[in-house]
Amino acid sequence: MRKKIVAGNWKMNNDLSATEELVAKLQKKLPETDAEVMVAPAYTNLFTAFEALRQSPIEVIAQNMHFAENGAYTGEISAEMLKSVGVQTVILGHSERRAYFGETDDILAKKVDAALAKDMTVMFCFGEELNDRKSDNHFKVVESQLKNALFHLESSAFKHVILAYEPVWAIGTGETATPEQAQEMHKFIRETLAKQYNDTVAESTSILYGGSVKPTNAKEIFSQPDVDGGLIGGAALKASDFIAIIEAI
Ligand code: 13P
Repeated sequence: MRKKIVAGNWKMNNDLSATEELVAKLQKKLPETDAEVMVAPAYTNLFTAFEALRQSPIEVIAQNMHFAENGAYTGEISAEMLKSVGVQTVILGHSERRAYFGETDDILAKKVDAALAKDMTVMFCFGEELNDRKSDNHFKVVESQLKNALFHLESSAFKHVILAYEPVWAIGTGETATPEQAQEMHKFIRETLAKQYNDTVAESTSILYGGSVKPTNAKEIFSQPDVDGGLIGGAALKASDFIAIIEAI
């Protein structure tokens, strides 16, 4: 059975005290759930969040990392550094990293390998831009993103891979994919996994949806058979909204 997951990507928001505050609220109000709950604070706040959530089922994850083990990469963070502050899971391939920081499929393939080599779990993000969807190329784009950054992996590696489909046109725009659009793409992704690997990989890999998930639309999106949860941006910054989204799963 694949895992249900609700993850909050805080992006470049929340300083140390805002992190402490939000984490305390989440810990206090976390509802009973069989879903895994994760939060991704900024690098500078990972350790504080990890310490505060030690006794909580909420997992603290990172938003990015570099592929090198160490060295002259000013401003970068390695897998070992993340692990040393308690982080076991890292988001890779977010569309903001691709768009603003030049992360290509090739770079992402290296990052995926580096994280898995250190026994971390990768939450791999991908998704088409508006033009791709308008020109009916969305399936092709998604398939090539998966192929170029992930499909060199052995099937056994997928035990440590979570997929997050995030159509770029739905991120931070208030425009959400309809539940039918999300289901259609998630089903396609699962079929692509089955074709590339096998049914076990396809059926056991969690595929999250991300892009303007809110308390008002979460339930309908999460009720789609191939949607295993969500990667939440804006709505994860407000404890009551994030809790409501967890309740929706
Ligand atoms: P929003 O929920 O703000 O659209 O962001 C989604 C996202 O990018 C999560 O990684």
